[in-house]
Amino acid sequence: RWFVDKNEKNLTNHPQVIQASLWIKKDEVIALPTETVYGLAGNAQSDQAISRIFESKGRPSDNPLIVHISNHEQLEGLVSSVSESAKKLMNAFWPGPLTIVLPKGEQVSEKVTAGLSTVAVRMPDHPVALALIEASGVPLAAPSANLSGKPSPTTADHVYEDLKGRIPGIVDGGSTGVGVESTVVECTRNVVTILRPGGVTQEDLEKIVGSGNVKVDPGIENKELAPKSPGMKYTHYAPDAPFVLVDGSAEFIQQLVDNERRAGKKIGILTTEERMSVYKADTIIPSGKRSQPETVAQHLYEALRSFNEAGVDKIFGEVFPKTGVGVAIMNRLEKSAGGNVVKE
Ligand code: TXA
Ligand code: MG
Repeated sequence: RWFVDKNEKNLTNHPQVIQASLWIKKDEVIALPTETVYGLAGNAQSDQAISRIFESKGRPSDNPLIVHISNHEQLEGLVSSVSESAKKLMNAFWPGPLTIVLPKGEQVSEKVTAGLSTVAVRMPDHPVALALIEASGVPLAAPSANLSGKPSPTTADHVYEDLKGRIPGIVDGGSTGVGVESTVVECTRNVVTILRPGGVTQEDLEKIVGSGNVKVDPGIENKELAPKSPGMKYTHYAPDAPFVLVDGSAEFIQQLVDNERRAGKKIGILTTEERMSVYKADTIIPSGKRSQPETVAQHLYEALRSFNEAGVDKIFGEVFPKTGVGVAIMNRLEKSAGGNVVKE
């Protein structure tokens, strides 16, 4: 584990960052912090590194990777064209939690894009990630650094839990900030299509390109349609125990919990700080404050993971309004529940 304080100056020459970059130069993969979640990074131009990424997290090979860059010059060869809307979004949100899908350039391996004609690119807003890309001298392909199917890691400990013995090292830059993954948008034409909701909201995008120019891929919500982002079709973010989302009052949730506990089951509840004390259950875990949805996003995966340690038989979770970052929160919760939603 390479500890790096993200507030230090001149991180590109930091001895620990240099150490990590030497592994990247040997086509190995290492975990690194970003502002969203930890990533599992390898040289985007090395087929061997890309294979190692897929192997170490057990990722299906038809799910393409995001390529991370630290400066705009690296777009050369990576993408074949940049639409006007893409330029506006880059100026507004990079570095930041926005991944832009563009026509791929000739330098990009089929392995990165899983055979697609497009490539996903983002410039992360994390000084350690940017320094590591600079020190490595190449763009870094990086999916979230969890085992496939598990909640994404927001601390180096989460990465260790999932990938110990599978990768040579983790750059530990502390907890990530946003907590959910980047928003993925397709921008091959001037209309911007949201393929995965995330840290940058639909409202944020509309402010930059105009509200008529932002669409949402219908495949995100509608199970009958194939989502345009291959990763959206997989089960994700699942805690070990079955997870049920409940669209109802605290009293209703408590009734469901009581029924299960009478049958001898150990029950967990995923709630927020405001409502923690209204419930009775075996394990009650808050994810941030309901009044501040950003804090819910920030702690969501950590909360989902902590039910595993608690060893509960079933988890009930509250729903959130689908506005702003709530769209990303609900997208992740619905996935981790595998569509298991109960209405009062
Ligand atoms: O915040 C993030 O985006 C984090 C950090 C590490 O940067 N990364 C991340 O990567 O979440 P991953 O691999 O877990 O998710 C990437 C998503 C997947 O849903 C994948 O299918 C989609 O992006 N994707 C990648 N390339 C694509 C492409 N060419 N077209 C459509 N979707 C693409
Ligand atoms: Mg992921």
